[in-house]
Amino acid sequence: MRKILIAGNWKMHKSIPETLELLSLLAGKVGAASPAEVVVAPPFTALSAAGKLLSGTSILLAAQNMSQNPEGAFTGEISAAMLMDAGCQWVILGHSERRSLYDETNGVICQKIKVALENGLKVIFCLGETASQRAGGKTQDVVRGQMELGLRNLDVGLLASLVIAYEPVWAIGTGKNATPHQAQEVHRFIRSELEKKYGSEFAESTRIIYGGSVTSENFQNLSLEPDIDGALVGGASLDADSFYDIITSVT
Ligand code: PGA
Repeated sequence: MRKILIAGNWKMHKSIPETLELLSLLAGKVGAASPAEVVVAPPFTALSAAGKLLSGTSILLAAQNMSQNPEGAFTGEISAAMLMDAGCQWVILGHSERRSLYDETNGVICQKIKVALENGLKVIFCLGETASQRAGGKTQDVVRGQMELGLRNLDVGLLASLVIAYEPVWAIGTGKNATPHQAQEVHRFIRSELEKKYGSEFAESTRIIYGGSVTSENFQNLSLEPDIDGALVGGASLDADSFYDIITSVT
Protein backbone atom coordinates (compact mmCIF):
# COMPACT_ATOMS: atom_id res chain seq x y z
CA MET A 1 0.00 0.00 0.00
CA ARG A 2 1.49 3.31 -1.08
CA LYS A 3 0.90 6.20 1.33
CA ILE A 4 -0.48 9.32 -0.33
CA LEU A 5 2.08 12.14 -0.43
CA ILE A 6 0.99 15.76 -0.68
CA ALA A 7 3.91 18.15 -1.17
CA GLY A 8 3.80 21.95 -1.43
CA ASN A 9 6.38 23.69 -3.60
CA TRP A 10 6.33 27.32 -2.54
CA LYS A 11 8.82 28.43 -5.21
CA MET A 12 10.13 31.99 -4.62
CA HIS A 13 7.35 33.04 -2.26
CA LYS A 14 7.12 33.97 1.44
CA SER A 15 9.34 35.78 3.91
CA ILE A 16 10.37 34.11 7.16
CA PRO A 17 7.45 35.59 9.17
CA GLU A 18 5.02 34.63 6.38
CA THR A 19 6.44 31.11 6.35
CA LEU A 20 5.98 30.74 10.10
CA GLU A 21 2.44 32.06 9.92
CA LEU A 22 1.42 29.66 7.16
CA LEU A 23 3.09 26.69 8.82
CA SER A 24 1.54 27.40 12.23
CA LEU A 25 -1.89 27.43 10.63
CA LEU A 26 -1.16 24.28 8.65
CA ALA A 27 0.34 22.39 11.60
CA GLY A 28 -2.76 23.25 13.63
CA LYS A 29 -4.98 21.77 10.94
CA VAL A 30 -2.92 18.68 10.08
CA GLY A 31 -2.38 17.68 13.72
CA ALA A 32 0.06 15.14 15.08
CA ALA A 33 -0.90 12.29 12.76
CA SER A 34 -1.98 12.75 9.17
CA PRO A 35 -3.22 9.90 6.97
CA ALA A 36 -1.31 11.51 4.08
CA GLU A 37 2.39 12.28 4.24
CA VAL A 38 2.61 16.07 4.11
CA VAL A 39 5.74 17.86 2.88
CA VAL A 40 6.35 21.60 2.45
CA ALA A 41 9.15 23.28 0.50
CA PRO A 42 9.59 26.94 1.56
CA PRO A 43 12.44 29.04 0.12
CA PHE A 44 15.98 28.41 1.40
CA THR A 45 15.99 31.50 3.61
CA ALA A 46 13.05 30.20 5.67
CA LEU A 47 14.11 26.54 5.96
CA SER A 48 15.87 26.74 9.28
CA ALA A 49 13.02 28.61 11.00
CA ALA A 50 10.50 26.29 9.36
CA GLY A 51 12.47 23.24 10.53
CA LYS A 52 12.31 24.45 14.15
CA LEU A 53 8.59 25.16 13.94
CA LEU A 54 7.80 21.80 12.34
CA SER A 55 9.89 19.63 14.67
CA GLY A 56 7.49 17.44 16.62
CA THR A 57 4.71 17.86 14.03
CA SER A 58 3.85 15.36 11.30
CA ILE A 59 4.75 17.83 8.53
CA LEU A 60 8.06 17.23 6.83
CA LEU A 61 10.40 19.80 5.31
CA ALA A 62 11.84 19.90 1.79
CA ALA A 63 14.19 22.16 -0.13
CA GLN A 64 13.43 23.12 -3.73
CA ASN A 65 16.92 22.46 -5.06
CA MET A 66 20.39 21.40 -3.95
CA SER A 67 24.00 21.40 -5.15
CA GLN A 68 25.52 18.19 -6.46
CA ASN A 69 28.74 19.15 -4.68
CA PRO A 70 29.41 18.42 -1.02
CA GLU A 71 31.38 21.56 -0.13
CA GLY A 72 33.74 24.15 -1.58
CA ALA A 73 34.01 27.12 -3.91
CA PHE A 74 30.50 27.05 -5.38
CA THR A 75 29.13 30.56 -4.90
CA GLY A 76 25.42 30.65 -4.27
CA GLU A 77 25.03 26.90 -3.86
CA ILE A 78 23.66 24.87 -0.94
CA SER A 79 24.74 21.32 -0.08
CA ALA A 80 22.81 18.27 1.08
CA ALA A 81 24.45 18.50 4.51
CA MET A 82 23.36 22.13 4.83
CA LEU A 83 19.76 21.18 4.02
CA MET A 84 19.78 18.47 6.67
CA ASP A 85 21.34 20.92 9.09
CA ALA A 86 18.36 23.24 8.46
CA GLY A 87 15.92 20.42 9.25
CA CYS A 88 15.07 19.08 5.78
CA GLN A 89 14.19 15.45 5.23
CA TRP A 90 13.30 15.94 1.55
CA VAL A 91 14.52 17.75 -1.56
CA ILE A 92 12.74 18.48 -4.85
CA LEU A 93 15.03 17.88 -7.84
CA GLY A 94 14.63 18.26 -11.59
CA HIS A 95 11.73 20.69 -11.48
CA SER A 96 10.89 21.97 -14.96
CA GLU A 97 11.68 25.55 -13.90
CA ARG A 98 15.18 24.41 -12.94
CA ARG A 99 15.52 22.57 -16.23
CA SER A 100 14.24 25.34 -18.48
CA LEU A 101 15.26 28.57 -16.69
CA TYR A 102 18.56 27.39 -15.17
CA ASP A 103 19.68 24.91 -17.81
CA GLU A 104 19.76 21.92 -15.50
CA THR A 105 20.51 18.89 -17.61
CA ASN A 106 19.46 15.32 -16.97
CA GLY A 107 23.10 14.57 -16.13
CA VAL A 108 23.28 17.24 -13.43
CA ILE A 109 19.91 16.17 -12.05
CA CYS A 110 21.19 12.59 -11.86
CA GLN A 111 24.25 13.71 -9.87
CA LYS A 112 22.03 15.68 -7.51
CA ILE A 113 19.68 12.74 -6.97
CA LYS A 114 22.64 10.48 -6.17
CA VAL A 115 24.19 12.90 -3.70
CA ALA A 116 20.84 13.62 -2.00
CA LEU A 117 20.00 9.94 -1.55
CA GLU A 118 23.51 9.05 -0.38
CA ASN A 119 23.25 11.77 2.24
CA GLY A 120 19.93 10.45 3.55
CA LEU A 121 17.60 12.99 1.94
CA LYS A 122 14.43 11.73 0.29
CA VAL A 123 13.94 12.96 -3.25
CA ILE A 124 10.96 14.17 -5.27
CA PHE A 125 12.25 13.74 -8.82
CA CYS A 126 10.23 15.85 -11.29
CA LEU A 127 9.78 15.13 -14.95
CA GLY A 128 7.27 15.80 -17.70
CA GLU A 129 6.76 16.86 -21.29
CA THR A 130 6.09 20.26 -22.85
CA ALA A 131 2.92 21.07 -24.80
CA SER A 132 4.69 20.71 -28.15
CA GLN A 133 6.26 17.41 -27.16
CA ARG A 134 2.79 16.12 -26.22
CA ALA A 135 1.29 17.47 -29.43
CA GLY A 136 4.04 15.69 -31.37
CA GLY A 137 3.23 12.36 -29.70
CA LYS A 138 6.55 12.39 -27.83
CA THR A 139 5.32 12.23 -24.22
CA GLN A 140 6.47 8.67 -23.53
CA ASP A 141 9.85 9.16 -25.22
CA VAL A 142 10.50 12.33 -23.22
CA VAL A 143 9.47 10.82 -19.90
CA ARG A 144 11.45 7.63 -20.58
CA GLY A 145 14.54 9.67 -21.47
CA GLN A 146 14.28 11.83 -18.35
CA MET A 147 13.91 8.72 -16.20
CA GLU A 148 16.77 6.86 -17.86
CA LEU A 149 19.23 9.73 -17.69
CA GLY A 150 18.08 11.08 -14.33
CA LEU A 151 18.42 7.69 -12.63
CA ARG A 152 21.39 6.44 -14.63
CA ASN A 153 23.70 4.06 -12.73
CA LEU A 154 21.91 4.65 -9.44
CA ASP A 155 21.78 1.64 -7.18
CA VAL A 156 18.25 0.35 -6.67
CA GLY A 157 18.94 0.19 -2.93
CA LEU A 158 19.26 3.98 -2.87
CA LEU A 159 16.02 4.49 -4.80
CA ALA A 160 13.76 3.34 -1.97
CA SER A 161 13.66 7.00 -0.87
CA LEU A 162 12.71 8.31 -4.31
CA VAL A 163 9.30 9.65 -5.35
CA ILE A 164 8.64 10.53 -8.99
CA ALA A 165 6.54 13.63 -9.72
CA TYR A 166 4.95 13.66 -13.14
CA GLU A 167 4.49 17.33 -13.95
CA PRO A 168 3.49 18.08 -17.53
CA VAL A 169 5.12 21.44 -18.23
CA TRP A 170 1.97 22.73 -19.94
CA ALA A 171 0.01 22.19 -16.72
CA ILE A 172 2.38 24.01 -14.34
CA GLY A 173 1.01 27.36 -13.21
CA THR A 174 -1.43 27.50 -16.12
CA GLY A 175 -4.67 26.50 -14.42
CA LYS A 176 -4.91 23.76 -17.04
CA ASN A 177 -4.35 20.49 -15.18
CA ALA A 178 -3.99 17.14 -16.90
CA THR A 179 -7.23 15.17 -16.91
CA PRO A 180 -7.28 12.08 -14.68
CA HIS A 181 -7.10 9.96 -17.84
CA GLN A 182 -4.08 11.85 -19.25
CA ALA A 183 -2.23 11.71 -15.95
CA GLN A 184 -3.05 8.05 -15.25
CA GLU A 185 -1.80 7.07 -18.69
CA VAL A 186 1.63 8.58 -18.02
CA HIS A 187 1.78 7.38 -14.40
CA ARG A 188 1.03 3.83 -15.62
CA PHE A 189 3.77 4.19 -18.23
CA ILE A 190 6.27 5.40 -15.60
CA ARG A 191 5.40 2.45 -13.36
CA SER A 192 5.81 0.01 -16.23
CA GLU A 193 9.24 1.50 -17.02
CA LEU A 194 10.21 1.13 -13.34
CA GLU A 195 9.06 -2.46 -13.46
CA LYS A 196 11.14 -3.22 -16.55
CA LYS A 197 14.22 -1.76 -14.98
CA TYR A 198 13.92 -2.59 -11.28
CA GLY A 199 11.27 -5.29 -10.99
CA SER A 200 7.64 -5.38 -9.97
CA GLU A 201 8.12 -5.11 -6.22
CA PHE A 202 10.03 -1.87 -6.61
CA ALA A 203 7.57 -0.51 -9.19
CA GLU A 204 4.57 -1.29 -7.01
CA SER A 205 6.04 0.33 -3.92
CA THR A 206 7.34 3.53 -5.57
CA ARG A 207 5.10 6.55 -5.29
CA ILE A 208 4.33 8.54 -8.44
CA ILE A 209 2.69 11.87 -7.69
CA TYR A 210 1.07 14.34 -10.08
CA GLY A 211 1.82 18.07 -10.31
CA GLY A 212 0.43 20.89 -12.45
CA SER A 213 -2.40 23.23 -11.42
CA VAL A 214 -3.59 20.91 -8.64
CA THR A 215 -6.51 22.19 -6.54
CA SER A 216 -8.76 20.39 -4.07
CA GLU A 217 -11.48 20.42 -6.75
CA ASN A 218 -9.48 18.64 -9.44
CA PHE A 219 -7.37 16.47 -7.19
CA GLN A 220 -10.25 14.46 -5.83
CA ASN A 221 -10.78 12.88 -9.25
CA LEU A 222 -7.08 12.64 -10.08
CA SER A 223 -6.46 10.75 -6.84
CA LEU A 224 -9.03 8.08 -7.76
CA GLU A 225 -6.71 6.85 -10.51
CA PRO A 226 -4.83 3.72 -9.45
CA ASP A 227 -1.32 4.99 -10.25
CA ILE A 228 -1.63 8.52 -8.81
CA ASP A 229 -0.16 8.47 -5.31
CA GLY A 230 -0.32 12.12 -4.35
CA ALA A 231 0.34 15.64 -5.57
CA LEU A 232 3.08 18.21 -5.94
CA VAL A 233 1.28 21.50 -5.46
CA GLY A 234 2.55 24.96 -6.39
CA GLY A 235 0.12 27.89 -6.24
CA ALA A 236 -2.49 26.18 -4.07
CA SER A 237 0.12 25.36 -1.40
CA LEU A 238 0.64 29.05 -0.58
CA ASP A 239 -2.52 29.24 1.49
CA ALA A 240 -3.13 26.99 4.52
CA ASP A 241 -6.82 26.42 3.73
CA SER A 242 -6.39 25.56 0.05
CA PHE A 243 -3.43 23.25 0.76
CA TYR A 244 -5.25 21.56 3.64
CA ASP A 245 -8.30 21.09 1.42
CA ILE A 246 -6.12 19.10 -0.99
CA ILE A 247 -4.85 16.95 1.87
CA THR A 248 -8.37 16.23 3.10
CA SER A 249 -9.77 15.73 -0.41
CA VAL A 250 -8.00 12.37 -0.57
CA THR A 251 -7.95 11.15 3.01
P1 PGA B 1 1.28 24.71 -9.83
O1 PGA B 1 2.83 24.30 -9.71
O2 PGA B 1 0.51 23.84 -8.86
O3 PGA B 1 1.24 26.15 -9.45
O4 PGA B 1 0.88 24.45 -11.23
C1 PGA B 1 3.21 22.96 -9.60
C2 PGA B 1 4.71 22.85 -9.55
O5 PGA B 1 5.41 23.60 -10.22
O6 PGA B 1 5.26 21.98 -8.84
